[in-house]
Amino acid sequence: MIRVAHLSDIHFGAHQPDLVAPLIEDIARFAPDAIAISGDLTQHARDIEFEAAAAFIAALPAPVVAVPGNHDIPARAVFERMFDPRRRWRRFISATTEPVLTLPGLALIGLDTVRRAQPHPDWSAGGVSRGRLARLAAHIEAAAGRIVVVVAHHPMRHPPTAMNRARPLGASAALATMRGAGVAAILSGHLHRPTEPLGTPPVLICGSSLSHRVRGVPNGWTLVEFGNGPPHARYRTAEGLVWRDATVLA
Ligand SMILES: [Fe+2]
Ligand SMILES: [Fe+2]
Repeated sequence: MIRVAHLSDIHFGAHQPDLVAPLIEDIARFAPDAIAISGDLTQHARDIEFEAAAAFIAALPAPVVAVPGNHDIPARAVFERMFDPRRRWRRFISATTEPVLTLPGLALIGLDTVRRAQPHPDWSAGGVSRGRLARLAAHIEAAAGRIVVVVAHHPMRHPPTAMNRARPLGASAALATMRGAGVAAILSGHLHRPTEPLGTPPVLICGSSLSHRVRGVPNGWTLVEFGNGPPHARYRTAEGLVWRDATVLA
């Protein structure tokens, strides 16, 4: 059994400081093999927010794979967004936005779905370019023999409650590639509402783990267990500063 702690949308800069230490303690209680953070580490991609996110990652009790979300590139500093949108990510978080963590029996592969602009008004909806998809396919191929889990901020499938939100461009092609390659799960966020696993490979959407922008559901994180058969997801939510199993997902 391999255990992955899935966090998302921690949004430092719009986070709840009192929740940080209890969250880390709760994750440690389950001794995960790895931790995935599926984007939106910051609220406005500011240096001070990235510094806080980096300190949080350093305090986590297992190796981390983190990918950016749309909030992790500057929204209003258009020049920076157009010409070097991942500059602060590289400085504070990682040299890459497409990290790969390989453990015995498991590969966690990051897919960067953030786009600086796109041909419809909501650039925040993200997308998967052909180049990114080709790199993802190569990473999956290199992980042959392991359970492969992809971490991507924007969900490739949406629950019925979010059908009015734009899916990332290229989602269908990306899903076909991952289905064909036998990916075990895709860990995503962005919607700030957790859902039951969606489709094959299952898209697991985590709620916001630390942000006060929770859209009607409590903060949460997901313990995802991989063994024989489909992954098992156990969602934990915060009630006050206490984390417990959630009974109902959105
Ligand atoms: Fe978010
Ligand atoms: Fe987002």
